[in-house]
Amino acid sequence: MKKLTLDDIDVRGKRVLVRVDFNVPLSNDTGSPSVADDTRIRAALPTIRHILDNGGRAILISHLGRPGGQPNPDLSLACVGDHLGTLIEERVRFSSNTVGDTVREVIDGMGDGSVILLENTRFEAGEKANEPEFAKALAELADVYVNDAFGAAHRAHASTAGVAEHIDLCAMGRLMEKEIEALTRVRDHPDPPTVAILGGAKVSDKIGTVRRLMDSYQNILIGGAMSYTFLKALGHDVGESRVEDDRLDTAEELFEAADGSIVLPNDHVVAAEFDASAESKVVHGDIENGFMGLDIGPDTVETYRETIMNADTIVWNGPMGVFEMDAFAEGTMEIAEAVAEATDNGAFSVVGGGDSVSALVKSGYTERISHVSTGGGAMLTFLEGAELPGIDALTDA
Ligand code: 3PG
Repeated sequence: MKKLTLDDIDVRGKRVLVRVDFNVPLSNDTGSPSVADDTRIRAALPTIRHILDNGGRAILISHLGRPGGQPNPDLSLACVGDHLGTLIEERVRFSSNTVGDTVREVIDGMGDGSVILLENTRFEAGEKANEPEFAKALAELADVYVNDAFGAAHRAHASTAGVAEHIDLCAMGRLMEKEIEALTRVRDHPDPPTVAILGGAKVSDKIGTVRRLMDSYQNILIGGAMSYTFLKALGHDVGESRVEDDRLDTAEELFEAADGSIVLPNDHVVAAEFDASAESKVVHGDIENGFMGLDIGPDTVETYRETIMNADTIVWNGPMGVFEMDAFAEGTMEIAEAVAEATDNGAFSVVGGGDSVSALVKSGYTERISHVSTGGGAMLTFLEGAELPGIDALTDA
């Protein structure tokens, strides 16, 4: 169903409550917290700029981390506000209260075309519980609600869904629109040849996505620890590799249902310990006891690369190995390169998931990808065809 967008509302003179996903990695390297990766902040800029340039007052809300419904100074959004200020070259006010009279007064005193960021919504117990009182208190801050937090759209929380019940005009932001367009294209009408690359730790996170994609994708290339659950389910020895033992039946059933489209690694980079300095080696086929698989091997890279280079549509979520450790990063980096090259040659590519995007940033190929999704769980939920409460709650166009 079509939803209102920023093009359908006049923001001039209005208090616009914008749910962004500023759940970004922080670093403490300089002694005070700072933003380690600002991909998600940059992605929200078109919406923020639109509101400011058109004379609206932008009231930004987001969660950061999982503080469990209580204030936690390590998860304050204050440094994110400072970072945003340098990106947009405007003063960004910050409120340490998320709701209430004090913040309402500050907003009322702001001029049109100005912006304020409110403290972490998850400092309030009512956020995750989607309590109507908290949703209502958020709604009282504004005239219009805009959801641009695609990364959190799979959560039915007060700031992503509940608040929309208390405001008449609720629209999608520019990022939300862009994400939906790119992900609808790869989910509903991908140009063949098609390839999905799925990695990361758990099969359980991706069951729905695999089920949905196996109908339209010719190749589903599996990497990361989830491949060991598949391999064990098919009777291979995987040594000490990480396996979801309670998902072996599901993995076997998925593999059979996919009827040849699921491709598993046939060689692995293994080590005796999960340690960046552990001695590693490449093994073909089974993994012996005492060793664990930590990356896909060079033969697998070659096979996957060939498939990727032939594709016209590529979707990638989840790394191929423990790319954070140099010894086990090669598989993921090679796949990133292949996806970038295939995109240069005309393929449409979508990469998402926090780890895959970090790997892309590390590889330096981000700019060469057609669409880098800011969603991890949200992207998978969208791809499997399930409703996203954060989109569902918005006003129908
Ligand atoms: C994400 O990083 O995937 C989103 O911001 C959602 O965060 P959450 O998994 O803590 O709800």
